[in-house]
Amino acid sequence: MSKALEGVKILDFTHVQSGPTCTQLLAWFGADVIKVERPGAGDATRGQLQDVPDVDSLYFTMLNHNKRSITLDSKNPRGKDVLWRLVKECDVLVENFAPGALARMGLTWEKIQEANPRMILASVKGFGPGRYEDCKVYENVAQCAGGSASTTGFRDGIPMVTGAQIGDSGTGLHLALGIVTALFHRTQTGLGQKVDCAMQDGVLNLCRVKLRDQQRLDHGPLKEYSQFGEGVPFGDATPRAGNDSGGGQPGRILKCKGWEHDPNAYLYFITQGAVWEPICDIIGEPGWKTDPAYATPKARLPHLNEIFTRIEAWTMKHDKFAAMDILNAYDIPCGPILSMKEIAADESLRKSGTIVEVDHPTRGKYLTVGNPIKLSASPSEVTRSPLLGEHTDEILRDVLRYTEDEIAEISGSGAIGTVQKIAAE
Ligand code: COA
Repeated sequence: MSKALEGVKILDFTHVQSGPTCTQLLAWFGADVIKVERPGAGDATRGQLQDVPDVDSLYFTMLNHNKRSITLDSKNPRGKDVLWRLVKECDVLVENFAPGALARMGLTWEKIQEANPRMILASVKGFGPGRYEDCKVYENVAQCAGGSASTTGFRDGIPMVTGAQIGDSGTGLHLALGIVTALFHRTQTGLGQKVDCAMQDGVLNLCRVKLRDQQRLDHGPLKEYSQFGEGVPFGDATPRAGNDSGGGQPGRILKCKGWEHDPNAYLYFITQGAVWEPICDIIGEPGWKTDPAYATPKARLPHLNEIFTRIEAWTMKHDKFAAMDILNAYDIPCGPILSMKEIAADESLRKSGTIVEVDHPTRGKYLTVGNPIKLSASPSEVTRSPLLGEHTDEILRDVLRYTEDEIAEISGSGAIGTVQKIAAE
């Protein structure tokens, strides 16, 4: 079966997380992703958060599956030649260096277009044009500047970042969509274009409901927020709303049986209007079905704290999975709070290829997250990340068509360094 992006060559000049998530996705869809790394060092994440000494970290391996690695010193004159040959050969150049770094290597958009008019240049930066455009940015900075931190956490606590990497992986996803869109556009125009994604913009795109609420505030209190029921006045900016649902159907995280000793014995419970009657029956409040103070979603808004306290008295009698089974039978939307340990062991996630076990020559077996996007005619198979420079010779020979003598000469120039040897495979 052919892959959706078979034949597309990606010059992957990415590092850390945001860029690599993008190119990993493209690789899963079948693109030939050629990761260019600095000789001797490579992507900094190879050595960060290492759990096994001298072995590529999980941070690196889990973001760089299905890629090939070539080492190339982009500041060495011979390395530059090779880089330009890659630019001419590839369809897309993806990078997430600090602002200005690519241009300092001589790779300006004008020169790239001149060398290869079909080339798509895709970049992640922390900020778009404006006062912060020259800043270096990591995940949590983007979460803070994109509106996520100010709206996450509890009202009486400090702003919070979330564990979901919406700045890095989120922007990587946005960039991948930009790239395939530009590839589609190229089928009509024959020309490449620039694709820019700023992490601040990506985070804000994912936080749009909070900008919605900012504007609703001009017309009165946000009645689905807990603080409305508690009689706490709203300020002039969208507040932190704890675990309140961000949508029109009120929801909360509720304790389940065992919460005293299990930090994840909780269930997210949504009081969807359509299933209010079965909710009342299940929690033992049948009178609330007809009581005018509880019978309609609007009437319930000032009583949400009381309602959820009552529902929690019921959920605390059941473990989260049993509660879910009972509620699902009535189509009541709810979900268990799953720990990473539970997710790692989840049989359905393994069967669907969302959790995958991968074998690595120096690390051995480990778990990773497979492609969350499932294409029926182009299924993803997760293969291990490359060792540093593992495919240098192969790329020089097969992709760039250098002769053996030329490869020896490039090697002698110091442009590719020494490649990591595979100890056992
Ligand atoms: N050969 C030679 N030099 C290389 C190289 C290679 N193969 N690959 C990279 N380099 C050099 C670059 O030329 C640059 O050098 P210069 O500053 O002298 O021009 C340097 O390595 C890398 O630069 P930089 O991107 O500044 O790395 P950093 O570790 O200092 O900063 C980030 C890391 C993530 C903060 C920064 O890259 C950034 O802000 N990126 C954009 C936003 C982003 O993606 N952030 C999220 C990361 S998950």
